[in-house]
Amino acid sequence: MIDIEAVRADTPACEKVLHFNSAGASLMPKPVYDAVCHHLRIENSVGGYEAERRAKDDLEAFYSEFAGLLNASPDEIAYVENATRAWDMAFYGLPLSEGDRILTHGSEYASNYLALLQQARRRKLHIDLIPSDASGQIDVNAMPALITDRTKLIAITHVPTQGGLINPAAEVGKIARKYGVTYLLDACQSVGQLDIDVEKIGCDILSGTGRKFLRGPRGTGFLYVRRGMIEKVDPPFVDLHSATWLDEKSYQLAPGAKRYENWESYVAGRVGLMVAVRYARNLGLPAIEQRTRQLADSLRHELGNVRGVTVHDLGKEKCGIVTFTKEGVSPGNMAERLVSQGMNISVSAATSAQLDLGRRGLDAVARASVHYFNTDTEIERFVEAIRVIVE
Ligand SMILES: Cc1ncc(COP(=O)(O)O)c(C=O)c1O
Repeated sequence: MIDIEAVRADTPACEKVLHFNSAGASLMPKPVYDAVCHHLRIENSVGGYEAERRAKDDLEAFYSEFAGLLNASPDEIAYVENATRAWDMAFYGLPLSEGDRILTHGSEYASNYLALLQQARRRKLHIDLIPSDASGQIDVNAMPALITDRTKLIAITHVPTQGGLINPAAEVGKIARKYGVTYLLDACQSVGQLDIDVEKIGCDILSGTGRKFLRGPRGTGFLYVRRGMIEKVDPPFVDLHSATWLDEKSYQLAPGAKRYENWESYVAGRVGLMVAVRYARNLGLPAIEQRTRQLADSLRHELGNVRGVTVHDLGKEKCGIVTFTKEGVSPGNMAERLVSQGMNISVSAATSAQLDLGRRGLDAVARASVHYFNTDTEIERFVEAIRVIVE
């Protein structure tokens, strides 16, 4: 059980705003904020390099905390500045050649899909779309028929940006293993709200961000690459941190996933993200998942009872993200009105989800994303605000 009063006391902004925007950027708990500020103060008083040296233990703990969070090993974890670049560091490093095929799904994150399109064009690759089942999630049963001996990658998103759907990542993992296809999972919206285990999921590569459900600082992210896969994913960029320059003709890549990192990085953010992971692990990911899903189920149910409101979340399994529209009010205006009442949400537009919202004929949806620190009282207040909102 999570002590809600305690976590809300750790999140002073809860007193001022109703924050249903953890899928945008969550509120940092006090220990995370304090860790970032503390590091910046030390940088300011002794110098950036010197402060980094003093933070050595915390920076090392980054790898062990993430390993514990994901059931991985510390050497399989890299710090990257955001989830998009983390995903890119793996995708652009995969040994794909002309004629190879990539399997993905309509819920794929927009930036990933753009990268797939760019590389398909440049390297003459083919993109195959896995259909959705009746619930809207990836139709795992349709996958075997789409896999050929040229299928080299399955790239999917666990929880899409534009809805509450949880794709069946572990079922996809079973297929990936059975057919020997590399499996790249974008877990940007699931890590921190769901209990993620890379062994159970069976993915080779997983990317994520710090600021969303992990409640870390902005400008932080991470990459997991399975040990057996590290030798196969050649970093698309190398520098003095990811490689050692040996002589005129040679260099050696850093051991483990450090080869996907940059020399320069946001040290205060790395420390802050480590503290965020530690904070989440102390609460327990199963408890976080249970409470977040329960709050979202209740929000979905209550919104569904409001006249004129349609809830749009797909899938058999749903998470803390709730998407909806209300007749006669554009999602953009709705979000602005709510902000002026101290209620934070986001808007997901078809331009960032062409294969999903675009195909469902939705220009945009309002996205309310709850986290464990939210309460039933906030849900009541929010639903009442939606009930009375007009254009
Ligand atoms: C599913 C998904 N993947 C990746 C990203 C990109 O994350 P970042 O902004 O940290 O690059 C997002 C951001 O919204 C996302 O929703």
